[in-house]
Amino acid sequence: MSEELVVRRISNGTVIDHIPAGRALKVLKILGITGEEGLMVSLVMNTSSKKLGRKDIVKVEGKELSKEEVDKIALVAPTATINIVRNYDVANKRRVELPRRIEGILKCVNPKCITNAPREAARPVFTVISEKPLKLVCEYCGEYLTEDEVIAQLTGT
Ligand code: CTP
Ligand code: ZN
Repeated sequence: MSEELVVRRISNGTVIDHIPAGRALKVLKILGITGEEGLMVSLVMNTSSKKLGRKDIVKVEGKELSKEEVDKIALVAPTATINIVRNYDVANKRRVELPRRIEGILKCVNPKCITNAPREAARPVFTVISEKPLKLVCEYCGEYLTEDEVIAQLTGT
């Protein structure tokens, strides 16, 4: 038990487990966590995992995630599990799900796309055509969105 425990258990909040190795900082960026909010955050990167070989873990004390946050995490960390912890117990555990259609979260990279029109722009909608590597297609103009572009948009880099 003590050999397994890398960082201590949390009392209330969210544990995002089974994040693909190396993606933890992107998950924090998506959640808008800088550390300045004063939330207690634990980060584990590149730890060994039976299922994934290596994985990252993010624990945020005192925060539960919105649906939009979970949908964004699914795009950069499709293997992640979201554990809601209440009074030290895992009250709820679920795998994130990459939706087949992504509405409103991402922007089309084609400047001429109707979703980028200066006025009365349509809400962007993408279909997932590949999960690994991630590839999406704009339903309006057929432009592709690659994994790197998705990560850049979600993390503002
Ligand atoms: N966890 C935590 N604080 C708690 C309870 C759980 O930090 N009070 C963490 C655990 O360390 C683990 C994750 O939340 O990283 C899920 O906990 P649990 O379901 O107990 O672990 P496993 O059974 O190993 O999870 P899985 O089957 O999803 O791998
Ligand atoms: Zn488009």
